Amino acid sequence: DRTDSYQEKQGQGGETHQSVRDDGATLTTSQGVPVADDQNSLKQGARGPTLLEDFHFREKIFHFDHERIPERVVHARGYGAHGYFELTESLSDITRADIFQRVGEKTEAFVRFSTVAGSKGSPDVARDVRGFAVKLYTKEGNWDIVGNNIPVFFIQDAIKFPDLIHAAKPAPDRGFPQAQTAHDNFWDFISLSPESMHMVMWIMSDRTIPRSFRMMEGFGVHTFRLVDADGQSSYVKFHWKPKLGLQSVVWNEAVKLNGADPDFHRRDLWDAIDAGDFPEWELGVQIFDQDFADNFDFDVLDATKIIPEELVPVRIVGRLVLDRLVDNFFATTEQVAFCTQNIVPGIDFTNDPLLQGRNFSYLDTQLKRLGSPNFTHLPVNAPRCPFAHFQQDGHMAMHNPAGRANYEPNSWGPAQGGPREDPARGFTSVAARPDGDKLRIRPESFADHYSQARQFYVSQTSIEQKHIGDALVFELSKVERPDIRSRMLSHLMHIDDALANTVANGLGLSLPEKAKA
Ligand code: HEM
Repeated sequence: DRTDSYQEKQGQGGETHQSVRDDGATLTTSQGVPVADDQNSLKQGARGPTLLEDFHFREKIFHFDHERIPERVVHARGYGAHGYFELTESLSDITRADIFQRVGEKTEAFVRFSTVAGSKGSPDVARDVRGFAVKLYTKEGNWDIVGNNIPVFFIQDAIKFPDLIHAAKPAPDRGFPQAQTAHDNFWDFISLSPESMHMVMWIMSDRTIPRSFRMMEGFGVHTFRLVDADGQSSYVKFHWKPKLGLQSVVWNEAVKLNGADPDFHRRDLWDAIDAGDFPEWELGVQIFDQDFADNFDFDVLDATKIIPEELVPVRIVGRLVLDRLVDNFFATTEQVAFCTQNIVPGIDFTNDPLLQGRNFSYLDTQLKRLGSPNFTHLPVNAPRCPFAHFQQDGHMAMHNPAGRANYEPNSWGPAQGGPREDPARGFTSVAARPDGDKLRIRPESFADHYSQARQFYVSQTSIEQKHIGDALVFELSKVERPDIRSRMLSHLMHIDDALANTVANGLGLSLPEKAKA
C-alpha cells in the first residue's frame, strides 16, 4: 500500500506537512480555532475521499471562492496611499469648512490614482485620463474631491456617461480593445459629441501618459461652492499642483513601459513612499463670484470648460503629502468608496448637470461593488470624527444605534435618546433659486465647443503640439471606418487649421467639409 509507505516516511502521528517557520502566531480558523494541519484535508483512509466533516477545509475553500468583488465600472485599476493635508492659508473669511480654518493644522487623507478605461489588470502607462481621488477625513465629516488629472470632461450631462464609457471600453461583440489602442466605437461616439473636443485636445496631449502619479496635476473639474458662516457663497475650482512638476513620458516610451513593466506607476509610488521620498501636491483654489460667472464667456456649470488662470489666478492654500503605504491593498485601495456627494458644512454643489448625476452614481455603484449599505463601517471609509445616526442593520452592520431610541424626533433623555440635530453646526444647502421650467434641454450657454479646445492647443509649445498631432494620427489610423476619421477631421478644422492639415496628411486623407459649428 503506497499510503502506508508514505505515512511511514512521514512518521505515524508525526509531521505530515512542510513548514519553514516554527515561531510566530498560531494559525487559526476564522472562528479562532487553532489549526494543526493546514496542508492535508481530512480523509477517510490515507487515499480516501475528503470528508464533509472537515470544517477547516470547507471554511478555507468557501472563503477563497468568495474573494472577488466586482471591479469598479470605471477607474478599475488604481493605486492608493495614506497621507495628510496641511492648511497653509486660512480661508475662514470665505468658508466655514473646518478644514480651511486653522493654518498648520493637518487632516488625515487617503488618495487613489487610477486609469479610467482599462480593467483592473490593464497596464499602467496606457493613454488615458488619470483619476485623482482624495478623501479628507475632516473634523466635520469626510470630504471627497473625486477629480481627474485633466481639468475638463468629455460630456456636459451625466445622462451621456454610460454611452461614453461603453464606447471607450471593449466592444460588446469582440471584447477588445483596451485603453491602449484607439478604436472605432470610441471615436465614433466622440466625433458625434462636439462637446468632447476640448477634452480631446487634452487627452491627445502628453498629460495622458504621465511619467508618474507623483508628477500629475489634479482637478476637482466642476465648479463647487464655498460657503461662509453667514451662508454667503463663492464659486470655487480645486487644483492639485505636484511639487515635482508636471512630467510625462513620450508615446514610444509608454508602449515599451507597458510591455516591460505594466505596474510602472504603482511601483513608482510604492518605491518613492517606501524610500521616504514623500510625494507632495499644493492645493490651489480659483475663487470667483456670481458677477464673474455672469460675465464669463462660458457657463461655469459646464464641465467641458476651464476658468482661465489669467482671469482667476490659482491661490495656494495647502499641501497634500502621501507618507504612508497601505497595509493591505484590498482593505484600502479596493474598498475605498469616494463620492462627489461627500461634502461638509462650508462646501456645496452647483447645478452642473454632470456633478448632479455623479452624486447619484457613486453611492449607487458602491452598494453593488461593496455589497452592503454599511461600507462606511470599513476603516478606510469611516469618518475619523465622532459620528452618530439612526441608520441600522443591513449586511455586516458594525455600528448600530445604542440606547433605547432609533428614531427622530424622540422624547427620551440624553442617555437613551441618541443624537440630536444641530441647526447651528449642521450642513445646510445654499438657498439657490431654480431658474425656470422643467425641461430636458441643454442651455445655449453650453454651446461653444471649440474655443477652449483651440485655446488649449495654441497654448502648447511646438513640441507639445507635434505630440498632439502625432497622437491623433496614431489613434485615428486605428479607426477602420473612413467616415469616422473624416468626421473627426471636420471637427479639428474648427479647432486649428494647421492641426487639421497635419492629421489629414498623416492619415493620407484630404480635408472634408467643415462640420457645422
Ligand atoms: C469612479 C472621476 C464623471 C461615475 C471615478 C473615480 C474618479 C472619477 C477619480 C475613481 C475613484 C476611485 O479611485 O475609487 C470622475 C470625474 C468626472 C467623472 C473627474 C467628471 C468630471 C463621472 C460621471 C459618472 C461617474 C458623469 C456617472 C454619471 C463613476 C463611477 C465610478 C467612478 C460609477 C466608480 C466608483 C466606484 O466603484 O467606487 N470617477 N468621474 N463619473 N465614476 Fe467618475
